[in-house]
Amino acid sequence: MEDFFHPPEPFRIKSVEPINLLPRAKREEILKRAKFNVFRIKAEEIFIDLLTDSGTGAMSNEQWAALMRGDESYAGARSYFRFEETIKDITGKKFIIPAHQGRVAENIFFSTVLKKGDFVPNNTHFDTTGANVQHKHGFPVNIPCPEAALDDEIPFKGNMDTHGLRQFIKEKGSDKIPVVFMTITNNSAGGQPVSMANIKETSEICRENGILFFFDCARFAENAYFIKKYEPGYEDKSVKEIAQEMFSYTDGALMSAKKDGLANMGGFIALDDEELARRMTELLIVIEGFFTYGGMSGRDIEAVAAGLREVLNEDYLAYRVGQVEYFGNILEKAGAPIIRPTGGHAIFIDAGRMLPHIPSEQFPAQALTIALYREGGIRAVEIGSIMFGGYDPATGEKITAPRELVRLAVPRRVYTSSHLDYVASIMERIAARKDELRGFKITRQAALLRHFTIELEELTEKEVRVK
Ligand code: F0G
Repeated sequence: MEDFFHPPEPFRIKSVEPINLLPRAKREEILKRAKFNVFRIKAEEIFIDLLTDSGTGAMSNEQWAALMRGDESYAGARSYFRFEETIKDITGKKFIIPAHQGRVAENIFFSTVLKKGDFVPNNTHFDTTGANVQHKHGFPVNIPCPEAALDDEIPFKGNMDTHGLRQFIKEKGSDKIPVVFMTITNNSAGGQPVSMANIKETSEICRENGILFFFDCARFAENAYFIKKYEPGYEDKSVKEIAQEMFSYTDGALMSAKKDGLANMGGFIALDDEELARRMTELLIVIEGFFTYGGMSGRDIEAVAAGLREVLNEDYLAYRVGQVEYFGNILEKAGAPIIRPTGGHAIFIDAGRMLPHIPSEQFPAQALTIALYREGGIRAVEIGSIMFGGYDPATGEKITAPRELVRLAVPRRVYTSSHLDYVASIMERIAARKDELRGFKITRQAALLRHFTIELEELTEKEVRVK
């Protein structure tokens, strides 16, 4: 592992939280009890939790201190104005609507903007974003750039396919498309960033067609850092200036502040349109809370405001992106085919390629996810045909995901590289006996976001042979 390096943590550890690896027999029992769904495992039964980077980060001393400044007034709290000022400074937008997490911002946004039967293009929807579009009777459409599907090591594989977007608008007509979204970084497509050129071009297409252009900006700082690192002309700009330029091409943004807000809870909608902001605020008050807290306590709001200022620190971002790259390198060396280049917040393993003996219908990415818990008490998440498969609500046709991926998300400022070395050593053990892994069948499922509650059974050797 000595060939790999990443910039060291630009912080030291002040408080620790014990974690514990249960014996193997116990883990086996837990898997059965959890119906082979890692969302159903108790957190205390996990050794290294890479389920998500969302709300799982460690706060800084400044953020902990900020909690005491939390103003818990119902209306007009001081904390809100600090939050508003910070977000206005980064996004340049006029109206800042607080929400307690990303999916509530999505609910409020799509409830206000969508009509039944409308389409929402996106470079790739995150699962809750797509589900919120469907919940308001719209159709989420993914238009990722063609390079996203290739194995080449090229930057900005998170881009929108701008040619495809133009075609789609021509085909459906702009009156059926109230808004185009861009997810930065593109979480479901490997946490890959979007280039400034692509943001600009997508913005121009939207302007020409009178369509709103919004970011789903959960990981905007990581995206801005990749632009600084890889896009010519940006090397001497600060990450903050780059972020400000990114937002300047949009009409607004939704954010889950549980990622690059460096907070455990929080979110917002930022926008310029006064009439839309007024309608969204009215709905906010009905379903979430008053417009100076939006479902968060004053101390949550302070933590987000402090987090949004800290996340633009370039030593932090160099360490963050460097640690994820290091993790990708050691996993690959351990025998896991990963999506390259490595993105901002997670490593995505191509389980379809690693386990060619398990067909999509038997969920190879779930087989690898379960193996990680069984062998090492590690929790990852399936991003394959369980998360994105199922049945097309319009046609009833069976859908499988384009790729069978396992995501190992890295919480911010939580795990050291020795934790990640441990994960790679478990992966090496799995890779050595990968032909023995078996697929799964579904015994119970929900219609929307089925992966959260799904129940599964591992196929027996006999069933594997018959299928
Ligand atoms: N948009 C993106 C790009 C996300 O990654 C998420 C959440 C959301 C919206 C929804 O935000 O959880 O605050 O309601 N992603 C988490 C993940 C859950 O694990 O990637 P939320």
